[in-house]
Amino acid sequence: MKRNILITGGAGFIGSHVVRLFVNKYPDYNIVNLDKLTYAGNLANLKDVEDRPNYKFVKADIADLDDMRRIIVEYKIDGIIHLAAESHVDRSIKDPFTFARTNVMGTLALLQAAKEYWESLPERYDGKLFYHISTDEVYGALELTHPEGVPAPFTTKASSEDDMAYGTEFFVETTKYNPHSPYSASKASSDHFVRAYHDTYGMPTLVTNCSNNYGPYQFPEKLIPLFINNIRHGKPLPVYGKGENVRDWLFVEDHARAIDLIFHKGKEAETYNIGGFNEWKNIDLIKVIIKTVDRLLGNPEGSSEKLITYVTDRLGHDMRYAIDSRKLQSELGWEPSLQFEEGIEKTVRWYLDHQDWMDNITSGDYEKYYNNMYKI
Ligand code: NAD
Ligand code: TYD
Repeated sequence: MKRNILITGGAGFIGSHVVRLFVNKYPDYNIVNLDKLTYAGNLANLKDVEDRPNYKFVKADIADLDDMRRIIVEYKIDGIIHLAAESHVDRSIKDPFTFARTNVMGTLALLQAAKEYWESLPERYDGKLFYHISTDEVYGALELTHPEGVPAPFTTKASSEDDMAYGTEFFVETTKYNPHSPYSASKASSDHFVRAYHDTYGMPTLVTNCSNNYGPYQFPEKLIPLFINNIRHGKPLPVYGKGENVRDWLFVEDHARAIDLIFHKGKEAETYNIGGFNEWKNIDLIKVIIKTVDRLLGNPEGSSEKLITYVTDRLGHDMRYAIDSRKLQSELGWEPSLQFEEGIEKTVRWYLDHQDWMDNITSGDYEKYYNNMYKI
Protein backbone atom coordinates (compact mmCIF):
# COMPACT_ATOMS: atom_id res chain seq x y z
CA MET A 1 0.00 0.00 0.00
CA LYS A 2 1.25 3.48 -0.83
CA ARG A 3 1.60 5.81 2.13
CA ASN A 4 3.16 9.21 2.79
CA ILE A 5 4.87 9.10 6.16
CA LEU A 6 6.36 12.09 7.93
CA ILE A 7 9.16 11.22 10.35
CA THR A 8 10.26 14.20 12.44
CA GLY A 9 13.73 14.32 13.99
CA GLY A 10 15.01 11.79 11.45
CA ALA A 11 18.51 13.31 11.42
CA GLY A 12 18.94 12.56 15.12
CA PHE A 13 19.95 9.37 16.89
CA ILE A 14 16.77 7.26 17.09
CA GLY A 15 15.07 9.02 14.17
CA SER A 16 17.87 8.06 11.78
CA HIS A 17 17.41 4.38 12.66
CA VAL A 18 13.65 4.68 12.14
CA VAL A 19 14.10 6.44 8.78
CA ARG A 20 16.62 3.81 7.62
CA LEU A 21 14.32 0.95 8.65
CA PHE A 22 11.28 2.43 6.89
CA VAL A 23 13.11 3.46 3.71
CA ASN A 24 14.62 -0.02 3.35
CA LYS A 25 11.60 -2.04 4.41
CA TYR A 26 8.81 -0.11 2.69
CA PRO A 27 9.74 0.84 -0.89
CA ASP A 28 6.08 1.80 -1.50
CA TYR A 29 6.06 4.39 1.24
CA ASN A 30 7.25 7.92 0.66
CA ILE A 31 9.31 8.81 3.70
CA VAL A 32 9.64 12.51 4.45
CA ASN A 33 12.27 13.26 7.09
CA LEU A 34 11.55 16.65 8.66
CA ASP A 35 14.33 18.01 10.85
CA LYS A 36 15.53 21.45 11.90
CA LEU A 37 19.14 20.22 12.05
CA THR A 38 19.90 21.56 15.48
CA TYR A 39 23.29 20.66 16.96
CA ALA A 40 21.84 17.12 17.45
CA GLY A 41 20.78 16.63 13.84
CA ASN A 42 23.38 15.20 11.48
CA LEU A 43 22.57 14.21 7.91
CA ALA A 44 25.71 12.07 7.84
CA ASN A 45 23.63 9.61 9.91
CA LEU A 46 21.58 8.90 6.77
CA LYS A 47 24.19 8.88 4.00
CA ASP A 48 23.30 5.31 3.05
CA VAL A 49 19.67 6.18 2.22
CA GLU A 50 19.86 9.80 1.09
CA ASP A 51 19.58 8.95 -2.64
CA ARG A 52 16.70 6.53 -2.38
CA PRO A 53 13.64 7.40 -4.49
CA ASN A 54 11.29 6.90 -1.53
CA TYR A 55 13.22 9.29 0.75
CA LYS A 56 13.02 13.07 0.99
CA PHE A 57 14.63 15.43 3.49
CA VAL A 58 12.93 18.69 4.48
CA LYS A 59 14.63 21.18 6.75
CA ALA A 60 12.04 22.82 9.00
CA ASP A 61 11.24 23.75 12.58
CA ILE A 62 8.30 21.87 14.09
CA ALA A 63 7.40 24.96 16.12
CA ASP A 64 6.64 26.90 12.92
CA LEU A 65 2.92 26.27 12.49
CA ASP A 66 2.69 27.72 8.97
CA ASP A 67 5.56 25.54 7.78
CA MET A 68 3.99 22.45 9.37
CA ARG A 69 0.68 23.25 7.62
CA ARG A 70 2.42 23.73 4.27
CA ILE A 71 4.58 20.60 4.49
CA ILE A 72 1.82 18.26 5.65
CA VAL A 73 -0.44 19.42 2.80
CA GLU A 74 2.33 19.44 0.18
CA TYR A 75 3.35 15.84 0.87
CA LYS A 76 -0.23 14.63 1.57
CA ILE A 77 0.96 13.13 4.83
CA ASP A 78 -1.19 10.30 6.18
CA GLY A 79 1.03 9.07 9.00
CA ILE A 80 3.34 10.91 11.38
CA ILE A 81 6.04 9.41 13.58
CA HIS A 82 7.12 12.29 15.79
CA LEU A 83 10.61 12.06 17.26
CA ALA A 84 11.90 15.64 16.88
CA ALA A 85 12.75 17.00 20.30
CA GLU A 86 15.39 18.53 22.47
CA SER A 87 16.56 15.40 24.24
CA HIS A 88 19.42 16.01 26.66
CA VAL A 89 18.59 16.44 30.35
CA ASP A 90 21.74 18.46 31.15
CA ARG A 91 20.91 21.00 28.43
CA SER A 92 17.33 21.24 29.72
CA ILE A 93 18.66 22.23 33.15
CA LYS A 94 20.61 25.11 31.57
CA ASP A 95 18.03 26.16 29.00
CA PRO A 96 14.49 25.00 29.81
CA PHE A 97 12.82 27.47 27.44
CA THR A 98 14.23 25.82 24.32
CA PHE A 99 12.77 22.53 25.58
CA ALA A 100 9.34 24.07 26.12
CA ARG A 101 9.45 25.70 22.70
CA THR A 102 10.39 22.60 20.71
CA ASN A 103 8.93 19.78 22.75
CA VAL A 104 5.68 21.44 23.82
CA MET A 105 4.92 24.17 21.27
CA GLY A 106 6.51 22.18 18.44
CA THR A 107 4.42 19.09 19.16
CA LEU A 108 1.33 21.27 19.43
CA ALA A 109 2.03 22.91 16.05
CA LEU A 110 2.49 19.52 14.42
CA LEU A 111 -0.73 18.19 15.98
CA GLN A 112 -2.69 21.24 14.86
CA ALA A 113 -1.35 21.15 11.31
CA ALA A 114 -2.14 17.42 11.00
CA LYS A 115 -5.62 17.94 12.46
CA GLU A 116 -6.47 20.75 10.02
CA TYR A 117 -5.27 18.77 6.99
CA TRP A 118 -6.87 15.48 7.94
CA GLU A 119 -10.19 17.13 8.84
CA SER A 120 -10.23 18.81 5.42
CA LEU A 121 -10.18 15.44 3.61
CA PRO A 122 -13.38 13.55 2.64
CA GLU A 123 -12.20 10.46 4.53
CA ARG A 124 -11.03 12.63 7.45
CA TYR A 125 -9.11 10.53 9.99
CA ASP A 126 -9.52 7.16 8.27
CA GLY A 127 -6.15 5.50 7.73
CA LYS A 128 -4.29 8.29 9.55
CA LEU A 129 -2.07 8.10 12.61
CA PHE A 130 -0.12 10.57 14.73
CA TYR A 131 2.44 8.46 16.62
CA HIS A 132 4.28 10.34 19.34
CA ILE A 133 7.60 9.00 20.64
CA SER A 134 8.11 9.69 24.33
CA THR A 135 10.30 8.63 27.19
CA ASP A 136 10.04 6.72 30.46
CA GLU A 137 11.39 9.85 32.18
CA VAL A 138 7.84 11.31 32.27
CA TYR A 139 7.00 8.80 35.02
CA GLY A 140 9.60 10.32 37.35
CA ALA A 141 12.10 8.30 39.35
CA LEU A 142 11.82 4.91 41.02
CA GLU A 143 13.40 4.12 44.35
CA LEU A 144 16.57 2.13 44.74
CA THR A 145 15.08 -0.27 47.25
CA HIS A 146 17.79 -2.87 46.46
CA PRO A 147 21.05 -0.98 45.89
CA GLU A 148 23.02 -4.23 45.52
CA GLY A 149 20.43 -5.67 43.14
CA VAL A 150 18.04 -8.60 43.35
CA PRO A 151 17.40 -11.17 40.60
CA ALA A 152 15.36 -9.45 37.90
CA PRO A 153 11.74 -10.67 38.01
CA PHE A 154 11.36 -10.62 34.22
CA THR A 155 13.79 -11.39 31.43
CA THR A 156 13.89 -10.85 27.70
CA LYS A 157 16.49 -11.46 25.06
CA ALA A 158 18.06 -8.16 26.10
CA SER A 159 18.65 -9.36 29.64
CA SER A 160 20.27 -12.50 30.92
CA GLU A 161 19.22 -14.72 33.80
CA ASP A 162 21.80 -13.28 36.19
CA ASP A 163 20.68 -9.69 35.56
CA MET A 164 19.63 -7.58 38.50
CA ALA A 165 16.76 -5.28 39.33
CA TYR A 166 17.50 -2.46 41.74
CA GLY A 167 14.01 -2.01 43.09
CA THR A 168 10.68 -3.72 43.28
CA GLU A 169 8.66 -1.18 41.28
CA PHE A 170 8.57 -0.75 37.49
CA PHE A 171 7.00 1.87 35.25
CA VAL A 172 3.78 0.54 33.71
CA GLU A 173 1.52 2.34 31.22
CA THR A 174 -0.76 3.52 34.03
CA THR A 175 2.01 4.88 36.27
CA LYS A 176 1.16 8.47 37.22
CA TYR A 177 3.20 11.12 35.43
CA ASN A 178 5.68 12.77 37.78
CA PRO A 179 8.43 14.41 35.71
CA HIS A 180 11.33 16.09 37.51
CA SER A 181 13.65 17.63 34.91
CA PRO A 182 12.72 20.38 32.46
CA TYR A 183 13.29 17.77 29.71
CA SER A 184 10.87 15.24 31.19
CA ALA A 185 8.37 17.98 32.09
CA SER A 186 8.36 19.15 28.48
CA LYS A 187 7.95 15.58 27.18
CA ALA A 188 5.13 14.94 29.68
CA SER A 189 3.38 18.08 28.51
CA SER A 190 3.68 17.04 24.88
CA ASP A 191 2.28 13.57 25.72
CA HIS A 192 -0.74 15.26 27.33
CA PHE A 193 -1.34 17.41 24.24
CA VAL A 194 -1.22 14.34 22.00
CA ARG A 195 -3.81 12.55 24.14
CA ALA A 196 -5.91 15.73 24.34
CA TYR A 197 -6.08 15.86 20.51
CA HIS A 198 -7.42 12.32 20.56
CA ASP A 199 -9.90 12.88 23.35
CA THR A 200 -11.12 16.27 22.11
CA TYR A 201 -11.04 16.02 18.31
CA GLY A 202 -11.03 12.25 17.79
CA MET A 203 -7.62 12.40 16.13
CA PRO A 204 -6.00 8.94 15.84
CA THR A 205 -2.97 9.14 18.10
CA LEU A 206 -0.66 6.78 19.94
CA VAL A 207 2.10 7.34 22.49
CA THR A 208 5.02 5.11 23.42
CA ASN A 209 7.40 5.61 26.33
CA CYS A 210 10.80 4.03 25.95
CA SER A 211 13.76 3.53 28.24
CA ASN A 212 17.33 4.77 27.55
CA ASN A 213 18.56 3.85 24.07
CA TYR A 214 22.12 3.05 23.07
CA GLY A 215 23.79 2.19 19.77
CA PRO A 216 25.38 3.78 16.69
CA TYR A 217 24.84 7.47 15.76
CA GLN A 218 24.10 8.76 19.28
CA PHE A 219 25.30 12.32 19.84
CA PRO A 220 28.42 12.21 22.05
CA GLU A 221 26.98 14.29 24.87
CA LYS A 222 25.11 11.18 26.11
CA LEU A 223 26.82 8.79 28.50
CA ILE A 224 27.78 5.85 26.27
CA PRO A 225 29.25 7.56 23.16
CA LEU A 226 30.85 10.27 25.33
CA PHE A 227 32.65 7.73 27.47
CA ILE A 228 33.76 5.54 24.52
CA ASN A 229 35.27 8.61 22.86
CA ASN A 230 36.89 9.88 26.06
CA ILE A 231 38.48 6.49 26.77
CA ARG A 232 39.88 6.42 23.26
CA HIS A 233 41.46 9.83 23.84
CA GLY A 234 42.54 9.16 27.43
CA LYS A 235 40.23 11.93 28.71
CA PRO A 236 38.47 11.95 32.12
CA LEU A 237 35.16 10.10 32.47
CA PRO A 238 32.86 12.39 34.48
CA VAL A 239 30.67 10.19 36.67
CA TYR A 240 27.83 12.18 38.23
CA GLY A 241 27.46 11.71 42.00
CA LYS A 242 28.44 8.25 43.17
CA GLY A 243 27.56 6.51 39.90
CA GLU A 244 24.74 4.68 41.67
CA ASN A 245 21.88 5.84 39.47
CA VAL A 246 20.21 3.09 37.51
CA ARG A 247 19.10 3.23 33.88
CA ASP A 248 17.31 0.60 31.78
CA TRP A 249 19.10 0.25 28.41
CA LEU A 250 17.66 -0.82 25.04
CA PHE A 251 19.54 -1.22 21.75
CA VAL A 252 18.31 1.49 19.39
CA GLU A 253 17.50 -0.89 16.52
CA ASP A 254 15.17 -2.79 18.85
CA HIS A 255 13.41 0.50 19.60
CA ALA A 256 13.11 1.19 15.85
CA ARG A 257 11.63 -2.31 15.33
CA ALA A 258 9.13 -1.67 18.10
CA ILE A 259 8.15 1.65 16.48
CA ASP A 260 7.59 -0.09 13.14
CA LEU A 261 5.41 -2.75 14.78
CA ILE A 262 3.40 -0.28 16.83
CA PHE A 263 2.93 2.11 13.91
CA HIS A 264 1.37 -0.73 11.89
CA LYS A 265 -0.32 -2.86 14.56
CA GLY A 266 -0.72 -0.70 17.66
CA LYS A 267 -4.19 0.24 18.88
CA GLU A 268 -5.31 3.83 18.47
CA ALA A 269 -5.24 5.90 21.68
CA GLU A 270 -3.12 3.31 23.45
CA THR A 271 0.14 3.75 25.30
CA TYR A 272 2.90 1.14 25.11
CA ASN A 273 6.01 1.06 27.26
CA ILE A 274 9.15 -0.09 25.44
CA GLY A 275 12.11 -1.61 27.28
CA GLY A 276 14.13 -4.78 27.60
CA PHE A 277 14.25 -5.35 31.39
CA ASN A 278 17.91 -4.43 31.34
CA GLU A 279 18.85 -2.32 34.36
CA TRP A 280 22.38 -1.14 34.97
CA LYS A 281 23.92 0.93 37.71
CA ASN A 282 25.88 3.69 35.93
CA ILE A 283 29.22 2.72 37.49
CA ASP A 284 28.79 -0.96 36.53
CA LEU A 285 27.87 0.00 32.98
CA ILE A 286 30.87 2.34 32.81
CA LYS A 287 33.16 -0.53 33.86
CA VAL A 288 31.74 -2.74 31.10
CA ILE A 289 32.39 0.05 28.57
CA ILE A 290 35.94 0.51 29.85
CA LYS A 291 36.64 -3.22 29.67
CA THR A 292 35.26 -3.49 26.14
CA VAL A 293 37.09 -0.42 24.79
CA ASP A 294 40.38 -1.47 26.43
CA ARG A 295 40.11 -4.96 24.95
CA LEU A 296 39.28 -3.70 21.46
CA LEU A 297 42.05 -1.10 21.54
CA GLY A 298 44.58 -3.59 22.91
CA ASN A 299 45.06 -1.65 26.18
CA PRO A 300 45.77 -3.66 29.35
CA GLU A 301 42.34 -4.74 30.66
CA GLY A 302 40.74 -2.16 32.92
CA SER A 303 43.65 0.27 32.54
CA SER A 304 41.24 3.08 31.62
CA GLU A 305 39.50 2.80 34.99
CA LYS A 306 41.97 5.44 36.16
CA LEU A 307 40.04 7.92 33.96
CA ILE A 308 36.93 7.63 36.16
CA THR A 309 36.38 11.02 37.78
CA TYR A 310 33.54 11.53 40.22
CA VAL A 311 32.00 14.96 39.65
CA THR A 312 29.20 17.02 41.18
CA ASP A 313 25.87 15.30 40.71
CA ARG A 314 23.32 16.44 38.11
CA LEU A 315 20.65 18.65 39.71
CA GLY A 316 17.52 16.63 40.50
CA HIS A 317 19.22 13.48 39.16
CA ASP A 318 16.54 10.76 38.88
CA MET A 319 17.70 7.67 40.78
CA ARG A 320 16.23 4.76 38.86
CA TYR A 321 14.28 4.11 35.66
CA ALA A 322 12.91 0.64 34.95
CA ILE A 323 10.33 -0.13 32.28
CA ASP A 324 7.78 -2.93 32.37
CA SER A 325 7.18 -3.71 28.68
CA ARG A 326 5.03 -6.82 29.14
CA LYS A 327 1.99 -5.17 27.50
CA LEU A 328 3.90 -4.63 24.25
CA GLN A 329 5.36 -8.11 24.41
CA SER A 330 2.08 -9.91 25.06
CA GLU A 331 -0.26 -7.81 22.89
CA LEU A 332 1.97 -7.23 19.86
CA GLY A 333 4.62 -9.92 20.24
CA TRP A 334 7.63 -7.56 20.32
CA GLU A 335 10.84 -8.76 21.87
CA PRO A 336 14.30 -7.23 21.86
CA SER A 337 16.67 -9.06 19.54
CA LEU A 338 19.97 -8.53 21.31
CA GLN A 339 21.56 -9.53 24.57
CA PHE A 340 23.00 -6.45 26.24
CA GLU A 341 26.54 -7.85 26.10
CA GLU A 342 26.24 -8.25 22.30
CA GLY A 343 24.68 -4.81 21.94
CA ILE A 344 27.44 -3.09 23.89
CA GLU A 345 30.14 -4.93 21.95
CA LYS A 346 28.49 -3.95 18.65
CA THR A 347 28.14 -0.34 19.83
CA VAL A 348 31.71 0.07 21.05
CA ARG A 349 33.03 -1.49 17.82
CA TRP A 350 30.86 0.86 15.76
CA TYR A 351 32.20 4.01 17.47
CA LEU A 352 35.81 2.79 17.27
CA ASP A 353 35.35 1.93 13.57
CA HIS A 354 33.67 5.26 12.80
CA GLN A 355 36.15 7.69 14.28
CA ASP A 356 35.60 9.94 11.24
CA TRP A 357 31.89 10.26 12.18
CA MET A 358 32.88 11.17 15.74
CA ASP A 359 35.62 13.60 14.66
CA ASN A 360 33.19 15.36 12.33
CA ILE A 361 31.00 16.06 15.34
CA THR A 362 33.64 16.95 17.89
CA SER A 363 35.30 19.32 15.39
CA GLY A 364 31.92 20.87 14.47
CA ASP A 365 32.49 20.09 10.77
CA TYR A 366 29.22 18.18 10.40
CA GLU A 367 27.24 21.37 10.89
CA LYS A 368 29.20 23.17 8.18
CA TYR A 369 29.35 20.39 5.60
CA TYR A 370 26.16 18.36 5.65
CA ASN A 371 23.76 20.61 7.37
CA ASN A 372 24.46 23.83 5.50
CA MET A 373 23.26 22.36 2.22
CA TYR A 374 19.70 23.06 3.30
CA LYS A 375 17.91 26.24 4.27
CA ILE A 376 14.69 26.47 6.23
P1 NAD B 1 18.36 13.49 19.32
O1 NAD B 1 18.62 14.69 20.16
O2 NAD B 1 19.48 12.61 18.92
O3 NAD B 1 17.62 13.95 17.97
C1 NAD B 1 16.60 14.90 17.96
C2 NAD B 1 16.39 15.37 16.52
O4 NAD B 1 15.33 16.34 16.52
C3 NAD B 1 17.62 16.06 15.92
O5 NAD B 1 17.86 15.57 14.61
C4 NAD B 1 17.23 17.53 15.90
O6 NAD B 1 17.84 18.26 14.84
C5 NAD B 1 15.72 17.45 15.73
N1 NAD B 1 15.05 18.66 16.24
C6 NAD B 1 15.26 19.27 17.44
N2 NAD B 1 14.48 20.37 17.54
C7 NAD B 1 13.75 20.43 16.38
C8 NAD B 1 12.75 21.33 15.89
N3 NAD B 1 12.37 22.40 16.61
N4 NAD B 1 12.20 21.07 14.69
C9 NAD B 1 12.59 19.99 13.95
N5 NAD B 1 13.54 19.13 14.36
C10 NAD B 1 14.10 19.34 15.56
O7 NAD B 1 17.23 12.68 20.09
P2 NAD B 1 17.00 11.10 20.20
O8 NAD B 1 17.79 10.58 21.32
O9 NAD B 1 17.11 10.50 18.87
O10 NAD B 1 15.47 11.09 20.67
C11 NAD B 1 14.42 11.10 19.70
C12 NAD B 1 13.09 11.08 20.42
O11 NAD B 1 13.00 9.92 21.24
C13 NAD B 1 12.88 12.27 21.35
O12 NAD B 1 11.53 12.66 21.25
C14 NAD B 1 13.19 11.71 22.74
O13 NAD B 1 12.46 12.40 23.72
C15 NAD B 1 12.72 10.28 22.58
N6 NAD B 1 13.40 9.29 23.44
C16 NAD B 1 14.77 9.22 23.47
C17 NAD B 1 15.40 8.24 24.25
C18 NAD B 1 16.90 8.10 24.27
O14 NAD B 1 17.43 7.31 25.06
N7 NAD B 1 17.65 8.80 23.43
C19 NAD B 1 14.62 7.36 25.00
C20 NAD B 1 13.22 7.46 24.94
C21 NAD B 1 12.64 8.42 24.15
P1 TYD C 1 22.27 10.33 29.74
O1 TYD C 1 22.96 9.52 28.67
O2 TYD C 1 22.41 11.81 29.72
O3 TYD C 1 20.73 9.89 29.70
P2 TYD C 1 19.51 10.26 30.74
O4 TYD C 1 19.93 11.38 31.61
O5 TYD C 1 18.42 10.65 29.81
O6 TYD C 1 19.23 9.00 31.49
O7 TYD C 1 22.78 9.83 31.15
C1 TYD C 1 22.67 8.46 31.54
C2 TYD C 1 23.10 8.37 32.99
O8 TYD C 1 24.51 8.66 33.09
C3 TYD C 1 22.42 9.37 33.90
O9 TYD C 1 22.18 8.77 35.17
C4 TYD C 1 23.42 10.50 34.04
C5 TYD C 1 24.76 9.78 33.94
N1 TYD C 1 25.86 10.55 33.31
C6 TYD C 1 27.09 10.64 33.96
O10 TYD C 1 27.30 10.10 35.06
N2 TYD C 1 28.09 11.35 33.36
C7 TYD C 1 27.91 11.97 32.14
O11 TYD C 1 28.86 12.63 31.63
C8 TYD C 1 26.66 11.85 31.49
C9 TYD C 1 26.41 12.51 30.16
C10 TYD C 1 25.65 11.13 32.11
